[in-house]
Amino acid sequence: MQTLIAANWKMFKTGPEAAATVTSLAEKLGGACPAGRDVLVFAPFTALEAVARAMNALSGAMVGAQNLYPAEEGAFTGEISARMISACGATWVLTGHSERRHILGESNAFVGQKTGFALRHGLRVTLCVGETLDEREAGKLKDVLTEQLREGLADLPEGFSPDALAVAYEPVWAIGTGKTALSEDIADAHGLVRGLLKDFLGSQAQNIRVLYGGSVKPDNAAAILALDNVDGVLVGGASLQAENFIRIVTA
Ligand code: PGA
Repeated sequence: MQTLIAANWKMFKTGPEAAATVTSLAEKLGGACPAGRDVLVFAPFTALEAVARAMNALSGAMVGAQNLYPAEEGAFTGEISARMISACGATWVLTGHSERRHILGESNAFVGQKTGFALRHGLRVTLCVGETLDEREAGKLKDVLTEQLREGLADLPEGFSPDALAVAYEPVWAIGTGKTALSEDIADAHGLVRGLLKDFLGSQAQNIRVLYGGSVKPDNAAAILALDNVDGVLVGGASLQAENFIRIVTA
């Protein structure tokens, strides 16, 4: 299984700015992703085409959208369909990011609908899960992950390829705060996620990549990637500058 190093650029960068960052990444990496590593950038919708074009200079790199609406097309003002995303050259989509759950009020059920819809429409999905600090302190980590995964995976298409799905464990209290979870907390949560994937999906669970996200930085990436059941990382702030992101891609 290739290690997946994913960037989440959130609401940062115009198309030209995003393309310039990818061009700089491509130059510094000598035109190819390092052996054993997949590089994926979740760019804003308005930058998808520019990023996909710039990625022609970085072989093996992929682009994804940060959201989608689970319908073919229709009267859904402001929303973006799977077909529109694919037409921009993107092959992945994020679902269930904590900012969408907590700022925009997305439910576990809606996240599950989006995840299933995206997979049925040819996109690969990174499904994000994770607990808030209150939930962790109340001892609810396992319950929260169980519900987020049960509902998040409830609508998977028959025979989907495990390679088309990744799960990102991102403790909400570690996102954008500079507070990385302790190694033992990450290993513990990733073990829970792997166990739940086995409960829900059986033997396919082994081939689904489980990523860690939440204040991943150049100086902690290697240690995090070395932990059991960590098959990659999802990086926000530290992915915005090519120099920083490269140190994580090559960690
Ligand atoms: P961060 O964001 O690396 O800035 O903490 C991670 C994420 O939101 O995916």
